[in-house]
Amino acid sequence: MVPPGKRMQETSQRVEQYPNLFSEIKIAGSRLRNRIALPATVTNLARQNRITEGYKNFLIERAKGGVGMLISEVIAVDPNAIAQPAIVTGFDDANDADFADLASQVNREGAALVGQLWHPGKQQLWGATSSPMGVSNQPDAYSWTVPRVMTNGEIEGVVSAYITVAAKLSSLGYNGVELHGAHGYLINQFLSPWSNLREDLWGGSVENRIRFAVQIAHGIKTEAGKDFIVGLKMPGTEEVEGGIDPDEAERLTKALTASGAFDYFAYGQGNFSLSLESHVPDINYQPGHFLEIHKKMKKAAAGVPVMALGRISTPKEAESALTAGQGDLIGMTRALIADPDWPKKAEAGVSKYIRPTTFDNVAWGLVHQGKPLSDHLNPLVGLAGESGWTPPQTKTPKTIAVVGAGPAGLQAAWIAAARGHDVTLFGRRLGGALDLETQLPGRSDMGRITAWQKLMAEEAGVKFHLGRLASEDEVRDSADTIILATGADQRWPESLAPTNEPVLSARAFDIAKWTGRKDRVILFDQDQTAAVYGLADLLASQFKEVVLMTPRPQFAEGVNYCSSIGVFRRLYSAGSTLLPAAIPVAFKNGNVSWSNPYIGSLQMIEDVDLLIYATPRSPRLSLAYAMQDFDLIRVGDCQSPRPLIGAIHSGHAAGLQV
Ligand SMILES: Cc1cc2nc3c(=O)[nH]c(=O)nc-3n(C[C@H](O)[C@H](O)[C@H](O)COP(=O)(O)O)c2cc1C
Ligand code: SF4
Repeated sequence: MVPPGKRMQETSQRVEQYPNLFSEIKIAGSRLRNRIALPATVTNLARQNRITEGYKNFLIERAKGGVGMLISEVIAVDPNAIAQPAIVTGFDDANDADFADLASQVNREGAALVGQLWHPGKQQLWGATSSPMGVSNQPDAYSWTVPRVMTNGEIEGVVSAYITVAAKLSSLGYNGVELHGAHGYLINQFLSPWSNLREDLWGGSVENRIRFAVQIAHGIKTEAGKDFIVGLKMPGTEEVEGGIDPDEAERLTKALTASGAFDYFAYGQGNFSLSLESHVPDINYQPGHFLEIHKKMKKAAAGVPVMALGRISTPKEAESALTAGQGDLIGMTRALIADPDWPKKAEAGVSKYIRPTTFDNVAWGLVHQGKPLSDHLNPLVGLAGESGWTPPQTKTPKTIAVVGAGPAGLQAAWIAAARGHDVTLFGRRLGGALDLETQLPGRSDMGRITAWQKLMAEEAGVKFHLGRLASEDEVRDSADTIILATGADQRWPESLAPTNEPVLSARAFDIAKWTGRKDRVILFDQDQTAAVYGLADLLASQFKEVVLMTPRPQFAEGVNYCSSIGVFRRLYSAGSTLLPAAIPVAFKNGNVSWSNPYIGSLQMIEDVDLLIYATPRSPRLSLAYAMQDFDLIRVGDCQSPRPLIGAIHSGHAAGLQV
């Protein structure tokens, strides 16, 4: 559970206690060993709508890590719900053997398994399904797909589809199901006065709008028995005008509770309008941002357990939410993606070793681009052995110098040292470019990565030489192997003619050192990652006007869709000017000329105080060139510049390779 190191075993005495978090709770017929739940998490590890070993491992490893209740990722209840090939089908028998195997393995590890049943309705996140249908003809706010309005017969057909799949999962050993009625999917579309415009028995009053969910839940109880868990995930607030707000959620919760059909409620916020941002509240939100809504819902639920979720990451936060009456269960998705052993570490009193999430939403972005789930500090997501993983010991200990103390170098250093190598880490600053990023508005939690890597490196016995890079002689004479993690520099913008006007790279820019006028700054964005927009936020707080320029017709393409909503909100709120399809050409006498790369037209921005560029990066390779005869391993940006997750994973691989 705790990575091996020279000092780690000695430090793991039990010092913290979380009595509420580690108390049992009974939900329907299942006694949960603690209050920790994994909310549903699409992993994209399934293939051709079939369960794979990776899909199962993701859940089994979290059961091994001590989670009390695991909610599977969405299961399609109907052919119209097959949004993409990684969504598994529940309505046919193709996955039955794997459902049964998964349930028995999760139960054997002491956790309850709940399948999340899903129908997207009108919502077409991954592109139109075979036949989008909806409660009303309101277009999907994300894709603008206009659905076919469901007939009475179709509604009843989908109700029985949910019941059939739930009864099947019950017979295959699942402990229960969760109806996905949040984030704007079909059940949410029925619940919400914003999306449910029907005037028949399925729309209008609260009683009519809950009818769909209640009929499904009652049907499941009839088929699968009262011990089979039926949970409902629904919005505590949809954050759209005319939608479910906390007062409406309270009314709905009271009515749903009175139906007697539900064993727990979970609350996820937002829908697929611009409020989608709040369903995975990112690094810019406060910890436990929505917990006061959960507290209100817990009262409305009158004893039916409530799962609090949304940006909870530490055992202290989880315990205090329980103590404050904000929930009976604590759901954590991103914290448990980052570390399946979160519960075991918290219970053992060694929560400092919990691999942290930073809430940057990179994992969410990956799965919504159709890529497999992954995580910055956890390259093992979905592999057997993920829980309790420690770097394997080496049989041939070596002396290793790691040059560069950014995220890739730090990762390589701690992994190599934990394997038994003698590792010295040289670097100008701990965290490298990531450390600069943490100083930008809204980016400070990215520092959790460096802090955790530093702790791991210290525990594994890495020797730190900070404040400078190593000289060639120093490493040539003392190391068997050198891992080079020297990072990269942003390049002068290709389109920009040489100039003596103030032009700085984003990484070299330091607001504290800028003594010039602060009227107008141009930020040339050829990067489009979240860090650049943190810099834009900083500039907006200091300069009268910020002009963002990018060669693409769109900004923030390197930011996941949810977090990009916040990026644009902050940029527009600050009055920043967004210039897509624009490249700087010349900076003369305080004026910047720019061109539209599609048509070559030229325009000018006057009175510019400073131009900052965030451009493609070139690896820093002077040491590599000087030591071409040596056994050098390059990692991170100095191997090839890329997003942070790839840089850290390359350091991880190098630490295992040496
Ligand atoms: C990668 C990823 C996949 C998710 N997949 C689902 C899903 O299948 N069903 C669902 O209801 N919510 C899904 N969510 C939302 C989470 O269940 C949870 O409500 C949200 O992440 C907030 O919890 P957290 O702050 O602990 O991450 C997903 C979130 C992430 C990050
Ligand atoms: S990728 Fe980022 S947000 Fe997602 S789980 Fe990992 S650290 Fe958290």
